[in-house]
Amino acid sequence: MAEHWNKHDMDFLGGRRLRRSRRTEWSRAMVRETVLTPADLIWPLFVIEGQNEKTQIKSMPGVERLSVDLCVEAARAARDAGIPALALFPNTPDHLRSENAAEAYNPDNLMCRALSAIKSAVPDIGLIADVALDEYSSDGQDGLVRDGEILNDETITVMARSAIVQAKAGADIVAPSDMMDGRVGAIRAVLDGEGFDQVQIMSYAAKYASCFYGPFREAVGSGSRLRGDKRTYQMDFANSDEALREIAADIEEGADSIMVKPGLPYLDIVRRAKDNFNVPIYAYQVSGEYAMIEFAAAAGALDRTRAIHESLHAFKRAGANGVLTYFALEVARELGR
Ligand code: PBG
Repeated sequence: MAEHWNKHDMDFLGGRRLRRSRRTEWSRAMVRETVLTPADLIWPLFVIEGQNEKTQIKSMPGVERLSVDLCVEAARAARDAGIPALALFPNTPDHLRSENAAEAYNPDNLMCRALSAIKSAVPDIGLIADVALDEYSSDGQDGLVRDGEILNDETITVMARSAIVQAKAGADIVAPSDMMDGRVGAIRAVLDGEGFDQVQIMSYAAKYASCFYGPFREAVGSGSRLRGDKRTYQMDFANSDEALREIAADIEEGADSIMVKPGLPYLDIVRRAKDNFNVPIYAYQVSGEYAMIEFAAAAGALDRTRAIHESLHAFKRAGANGVLTYFALEVARELGR
C-alpha cells in the first residue's frame, strides 16, 4: 500500500491544511478560542477556629485550613491577584456539631465570623457562603436525619435560617450545596423577607453523589462521621437528563447562577447546561480532582502546571463562566504575570 502512495493522492485535501494555523505560537494565539483569566477563578477556603492557625489536610497536599485572621490575609492576596470571589467552608469544632445542626444558624458561628472579618477588611472581594448542614451536623449528612431518613422540608427550614445569618454577616452570595428539593425557593423567599434582596443565590443545581468529595470531607471534618452515603439527595452519576430538570427547577425558584459538580468528569453536563440555559454556569473542580493532580504530579506521572492549566481551560471550553478551584490563587498569580 505505502509504496503506491504519492503526493498526488493528497488532492482530496483540496488545499485544506488545518495544521497551517498551528505552526507558530503567534498563530496559535490568534485562533485560540478560550482564554482563562483570574476573573474566572473562585477560591474555596476552609476555616478553623484560633489565631494565626493553619492545619494540613492529608488528602489535599498544599491546601491548609486557616483561622479567620489568616483567611483575611488570604482574601487580600486573592483580591490582589484578581480573583473575584471566595467560597468559604467552616470546619466546625466537634462539640458544636449536633443532630439538629443548630450551629448552622448561630449568628456568631465560625462561618459568620469569617464572613464579617473578611467583609470589613477586604470589602471588594465577593463572599460565597456554603449553605449545607453537613458542616454542622453530627451525622455528616447535608440534611436532618430521622430514623435513617434524610428529611427534606425540615432541612430547608434550617438552611433558610442559616442563609439569613450568613447574609447578615456579609455573604454576597449564598450557595446551597445540599440538593434538597425546594431549597432555592425557600431561601430566596426568606432572604427577600428579611431585606436581603441583593444577596445572590448560586445553586449547586447539578450535584452528583460522588466519591470525588472524599478529601473535602476530611477538610471540613465530616467524613469520619458520615454513615451511609448521599445518594437519596445527590444525583446518580449515570444520569444527565435529570441534571437539566434540576437546573430548570432551581432557575425557576430564583437561582441567579448554577453550578455543576464535580467538574472534569462532568463536563458533558456543563456543556448541556450551557446549551440549554441562559444563566451563568460555574463548575467545581472538587477536592478529589485536586488530589488526583497533586498526587499524580508528586509521583512524576504528570507535569503539574500543565495539568492544572489544561484542566481549567477544559472547563471554559465546555461553557463554564467560572471555576471553583483550589488552584485559584496560584493560577491567578501566574496569569497576572
Ligand atoms: C457539602 C459540600 C461538599 C462539597 C462542597 N459542599 C461535599 C459533599 O457534598 O459531601 C465538596 C467540595 C469538594 O469536594 O471540593 N456541603
